[in-house]
Amino acid sequence: MPSRRKCPARLAVAIAALLLAAPVFAGDRKKSPDGRIDPALLYHNYCSVCHGDQGDGRSRARNSLVPPPANFTDPGLRARLSVDYIAAITREGKPGTAMVGWKTQLTPAESKALAQYVRTQFVEKSGDEAARRGRTLYGHYCAACHGPAGRGVEPGAVREGVKPGPDLTKIAGLTRERVITAVAVGKASAGKPGFAQQMAPADIEAVADYVRQGLLAVSPAVSGTTAHGGKASDGKR
Ligand code: HEC
Ligand code: HEC
Repeated sequence: MPSRRKCPARLAVAIAALLLAAPVFAGDRKKSPDGRIDPALLYHNYCSVCHGDQGDGRSRARNSLVPPPANFTDPGLRARLSVDYIAAITREGKPGTAMVGWKTQLTPAESKALAQYVRTQFVEKSGDEAARRGRTLYGHYCAACHGPAGRGVEPGAVREGVKPGPDLTKIAGLTRERVITAVAVGKASAGKPGFAQQMAPADIEAVADYVRQGLLAVSPAVSGTTAHGGKASDGKR
C-alpha cells in the first residue's frame, strides 16, 4: 500500500500514456476482419484500460482516479447498470469523473453493442459467479453456526464451546448493509465472530448477497417454489 503512494507523478504520466495509447491503437481495429461490430474488441480497446479485463475495475488506472473506474461486477450496481444506462454513459460520459463520453468515436450501434457486452459479460455473469461463491463461502464460514439453510443448527450438531447463531430467516429487516456489518464486524459479546481479517471485502459482499437472496428469499412462506432464479430452494446444502 505505501509503495503505491511514493511517486504519484510518475504513475500519472504512465497512466496518461496508457489512456492516450488506447484509442489510437483502436483506430483501425474497431471492427472484426469481416467488418462486423466486435464488442469484445471495442471493450478491450476503449474500456479495459480503466475498467479492467474482467470488468471489475481492477486496472492500473484505478489507484490514480477519484472516483475509481466503476466495477461492473459490483452487485450493488446491478439494478442501475441496464443496457440503456450503460449505452448512455458510454456516449455521454459521467460528469465529475474520469468517464468521458465516447460519442465522437463510437457510433450509436457500437455503443449499444458494447453496452450489451458489458451487461452480459460482467454485470450478469458476475452475479451468477458471486452467487456461487457466496454459497461456497457460506458453507465454509457460516453454516456451522447458522445451519446449512440459515435456519439454525440442530441442537446435536453444535460444536462444544460454540454459541450457535440464530435462525436468520426469522430476523426482520436484514438489509444488505446490516448483513455485511454482521459478517465483517460480528458481535464479540454475543459470541459472533467478525470476518474482516479473513475474508476479502468482495467475499463478504458475496456471502451477504447469498444470505439475502439465496436464503432469506427462500423462507418457508415460499416453499415449494423456486423463488430465486430457478435455483433449488430445498435448503439441502
Ligand atoms: C479513463 C478511464 C475510463 C475509461 C477509458 C472508461 N471509463 Fe467508464 N468510468 C470511469 C470512471 C472513473 C467512472 C465513474 C465511476 C463512478 O461513478 O463511481 C466510470 C463510469 C462508467 C459507467 C457508469 C457506472 C455507474 O455506476 O454509474 C459506465 C456504464 C462506464 N463507465 C462504461 C464505460 C465503457 C463502456 C467504457 C469504454 C467505452 C468506459 N467506461 C471507459 C473511467 C473510465
Ligand atoms: C461461531 C458462530 C457463528 C458464526 C461462525 C457466524 N455467526 Fe452469525 N451470528 C452468530 C450469533 C451468536 C449471532 C447473534 C448475535 C446477537 O445476538 O446479536 C449471529 C448473528 C448473525 C446475523 C444477524 C445480525 C443482526 O444484525 O441481527 C447475521 C446476518 C449473521 N449472523 C450472518 C452470518 C454469516 C453470513 C456468517 C458467515 C460469514 C456468520 N454469521 C457466521 C454466530 C455465528
